[in-house]
Amino acid sequence: MYSLLRSLLFRLDPEQIHGLTLGLLRFAGNFPITYYLLRAMFEVRDPRLEIKVFGVRFKNPLGLAAGYDKDGVAVRGLSCIGFGHIEVGTVTRRAQPGNPRPRIHRVPQARALINSMGFPNAGVDALRVPRDATCVGINIGKSKETPLEQAAQDYCALLERVHARADYVALNVSSPNTPGLRALQARAAIEELLRAVIATRDRLQPRVPLLVKISPDMTESELDDLLAVVTTCGVDGVIATNTTTSRAGLYQYESVTGGLSGAPLRARATEIIRYIARQTAGKLPIVGVGGVASPDDALEKIRAGASLVQIYTGLVYAGPALIRAINLGLIRACEHEGVRSIGQLGNR
Ligand SMILES: Cc1cc2nc3c(=O)[nH]c(=O)nc-3n(C[C@H](O)[C@H](O)[C@H](O)COP(=O)(O)O)c2cc1C
Repeated sequence: MYSLLRSLLFRLDPEQIHGLTLGLLRFAGNFPITYYLLRAMFEVRDPRLEIKVFGVRFKNPLGLAAGYDKDGVAVRGLSCIGFGHIEVGTVTRRAQPGNPRPRIHRVPQARALINSMGFPNAGVDALRVPRDATCVGINIGKSKETPLEQAAQDYCALLERVHARADYVALNVSSPNTPGLRALQARAAIEELLRAVIATRDRLQPRVPLLVKISPDMTESELDDLLAVVTTCGVDGVIATNTTTSRAGLYQYESVTGGLSGAPLRARATEIIRYIARQTAGKLPIVGVGGVASPDDALEKIRAGASLVQIYTGLVYAGPALIRAINLGLIRACEHEGVRSIGQLGNR
């Protein structure tokens, strides 16, 4: 049914459809009938899917990746379609318009998207996170106009504003659409940033887990540098990965600026996850994201070392039935492997 609907929806501008879908989910989450109907249709409850990661208990390992609900307007609706967590944001200190439109391009033949959004959002003061929602991560980023040298002030101020409402906070230092942002991943820069942010986090009650979202475009030695800092300064995990600036296999899209997501990113994101898991002996929690569009793709991330998995582009191409399909597929994998919980499927 969704493929029929998609052929109609794909005639419209991607951002228009996105606004429409978010509006519907917001509406659905606010009315008891639609709320319970969607839950009955999409939710999968099974103790084998439950997992505790960085001290937080998730009802299943599949979450919505950042960027879909930037201002947290549809968290209740999104939580009824089966996600175990929703990552809202990226949110910045002040409202900002983002880059000029069009800034989302479909690449249907590759089941991919290229976006150059640049964090359009209503600012942290407008962020809405209902208290009864499923687990919510809040993804924070530097404002476009904040110079890199002052980035730590932005992240610390944002952390203070959001920590009480978040099950975890993700530092986005990997979007390709905010000029210079990825430079914050370099060793000296990330060390300075994390020192300030962790000091702020450690003063706040309750303690909130802090994750760093990284790019798939780092070399192994850049990753080693980043991991050396991340594993020694009190960070609780990494989210791997954000979109890529690479156009491998899609050279006709070289002139389209922005980050590529979806199927072409899958293998690279998994490679990064596997590398991190190996370098940290599986001790650093990893949220795996990039090109997940089927239960097997989610399993690939878990087997590579991810404890949680997120989707964005797969949802655009396959619709919300994908969430249930992945959760059911993970239960089947537990049965097949004879394990009692999803947490035991890793490294097999
Ligand atoms: C339109 C769009 C907007 C995005 N916005 C954000 C964002 O604001 N912050 C962020 O950390 N990631 C953002 N992302 C990246 C996704 O969270 C995810 O890391 C990436 O798309 C790879 O996953 P996927 O292949 O399942 O889409 C965005 C992705 C897309 C497609």
